[in-house]
Amino acid sequence: MSITRRSALALAAATGLGLCAQVGAQQAREIKIGYALAQNSHFGAGALAWADAVEKSTNNAFKFKHFASSALGGERELIEGLTLGTVEAVVVSNGAVSNFVPDAGVMDVPFLFRDTAHARAVLDGKIGEDLLAKFRARGLIALAWGEQGFRHLSNNKRAVVKPADAQGLKIRVTENQTHITAFRQLGMSPTPMSWPEVIGALQQGTIDGQENPVSVFTSAKLWQVQKYLSLTSHVYAPMVLIVSPSVWSGLNDAQKKAFADGARAGSLASRKFVDDIEKSAVEEIKSHGVQVTTSVDQAAFRAALAPAYKQFATKFGQKTLDAIAAVK
Ligand code: PAF
Repeated sequence: MSITRRSALALAAATGLGLCAQVGAQQAREIKIGYALAQNSHFGAGALAWADAVEKSTNNAFKFKHFASSALGGERELIEGLTLGTVEAVVVSNGAVSNFVPDAGVMDVPFLFRDTAHARAVLDGKIGEDLLAKFRARGLIALAWGEQGFRHLSNNKRAVVKPADAQGLKIRVTENQTHITAFRQLGMSPTPMSWPEVIGALQQGTIDGQENPVSVFTSAKLWQVQKYLSLTSHVYAPMVLIVSPSVWSGLNDAQKKAFADGARAGSLASRKFVDDIEKSAVEEIKSHGVQVTTSVDQAAFRAALAPAYKQFATKFGQKTLDAIAAVK
């Protein structure tokens, strides 16, 4: 075989995903990936699994650089950064994305999901896929839903069992209108705030508490700044794995598949991290002196939210809420 023919064949093999290792090693494109928590968290687990899968399946044509612990700013800045070009991939909580993709906010409706299996079935099914597709209209390429777990209420004033106990508490919420409406309805004073400001605000006492899954409570060591945790499970918190439009438009089909499959691997890794941490988190949190209330009267919280549910039905459509409830 002539040298020219041999190099033509080699070149052909190197197209698509088959970029040869040498080319990949020389020209690895850096993908800056940002997220709110430490690398040793469900966010980190998702980001690392995503990165690993893409790097391997593209023969190192891409190299992810991790910016954990809000190093590139709060989640709003991260999402904006995707279109501004300051970050190429993010793993962000749903609380933040509904400001960009309002329909995704339906996931933030309190007590929407029966349990984790229900939430995962919805996100992995048509409803979840249709919501991911809606990010495109905002120029965001959302590839998979990951998981944080169910959110619970913590504070420094008192144990919360029923809505009356929560009255008047000044609680940091995400910059999310559905959460704000729900907390106001429950008689609390919801204070929207970007995550990087939360620990300082708890230390200074400008807020009494916050609400997040135990995965976040342990990762951020919130026992250093919180005395009471009530397992309210009031909202299921998904997270989203998103890539920037400029990265996406530069990928060939095989590389797009590598990013999408990798995001799915990231999603599963985040769920596994949450499954594992939830087995031990409550004991760990208690061991740091936090009083954990497990006997929360969820039915009373749901009943107290009745007027807010009317607003949510108008905002997201009763049909959508019913379709989510109907998923087995
Ligand atoms: O509460 C929040 O802002 C989020 O759940 C998290 C993960 C702590 C930061 O994005």
